[in-house]
Amino acid sequence: MLVLGIESSCDETAAALVEGDGRVRSDVVHSQVSVHAPYGGVVPELASRDHLRNVGPVVSAALDRAGVRLADVDGVAVTHRPGLVGALLVGVQAAKGIAWAAGKPLVGVDHLMGHLLSVFVRRGAGDAEPPRFPFVCLLVSGGHTAIYRVDAPAPDSVTELGATRDDAAGEAFDKVAKLLGLGYPGGPVVDRLAAGGVASRVKLSPPMAARGSFEMSFSGIKTQVAQLVAREGAGKDAQWVADVCASFQAAVTGVLARKVIEAAEREGVGDVVLGGGVAANAELRRRVSEAGAARGLRVLVPPVASCTDNAAMIAYAGCERLARGEHDGWDLVATSRTVLERRTRKGGGRR
Ligand code: KG4
Ligand code: ZN
Repeated sequence: MLVLGIESSCDETAAALVEGDGRVRSDVVHSQVSVHAPYGGVVPELASRDHLRNVGPVVSAALDRAGVRLADVDGVAVTHRPGLVGALLVGVQAAKGIAWAAGKPLVGVDHLMGHLLSVFVRRGAGDAEPPRFPFVCLLVSGGHTAIYRVDAPAPDSVTELGATRDDAAGEAFDKVAKLLGLGYPGGPVVDRLAAGGVASRVKLSPPMAARGSFEMSFSGIKTQVAQLVAREGAGKDAQWVADVCASFQAAVTGVLARKVIEAAEREGVGDVVLGGGVAANAELRRRVSEAGAARGLRVLVPPVASCTDNAAMIAYAGCERLARGEHDGWDLVATSRTVLERRTRKGGGRR
């Protein structure tokens, strides 16, 4: 099976061709960072317009790089939820047109299913081993932060064990970077600067660190950093900024790592998987790997290109849907809500 995937849920226009076994034939990502950087965050209207300009060339480039014609694909998969609705609409409408013109099945994919299954995407060197079901996944991105139990590669078999009650972890990285004047997107810069900082020089309390709960919160630590910057920031040097980055990153990744390992132990699974843009963070990858190894768990971390937004994970999740005999029609809509919100275990819910 060979599927064309299209992704336009936020600030990346992406297209990829992926085989049913996860092998990537091509993977093209057009980043809008330069469009949004002057505003310090994603401007939805500008995102939609930029997707509209780039979706055609990006799909053509993906087909060219794979050496594939549309006639050769078995389906067209597209992210249709969750995300910025105006941005999603561009990818969805492009996918409908392409699928209709080529006479191929259209499959809508939940972006979070893409992140949860991104560990199955095969890029070659640097791939993680594919996990065994059931596994526990920490999905940490700019829009979502949650821990899931995944029993099979379908939304009905995914259970949310806990999630952030306010900001996503990536959002906190981006806001802290903005407070420190480090630009957008903040995650990669904080990650880089933290490596040269000393966390113990700046005291921040870890957010919702209580054991036994998989609920999380990242808005309080952002406020702690805002207060710190207002109180002590004036005239501070680059080393102080690096120390704040190190302390913030240690607090956030410490809580994330501990909760996902505790969740895996409680669920009795052997495999722990990371997904989402924040899973590109070096300290998070190291902490979860070390904590997992200490408990005899296998920690499977996809390469960075599979963690941040990409269309290969969407194509792969689309392959899974097509393999189950599922597809969509003209009534496929774009929505800001994930299908996974409904799959909360009773009593362990969010909000
Ligand atoms: O998954 P993603 O590409 O898009 C969403 O679905 O949200 O995640 C983007 C988020 C941004 O908040 C970005 O700052 C964060 O992932 N991020 C990182 C790193 N690389 C990207 N956060 C921490 N460390 C990184 N190395
Ligand atoms: Zn994402």
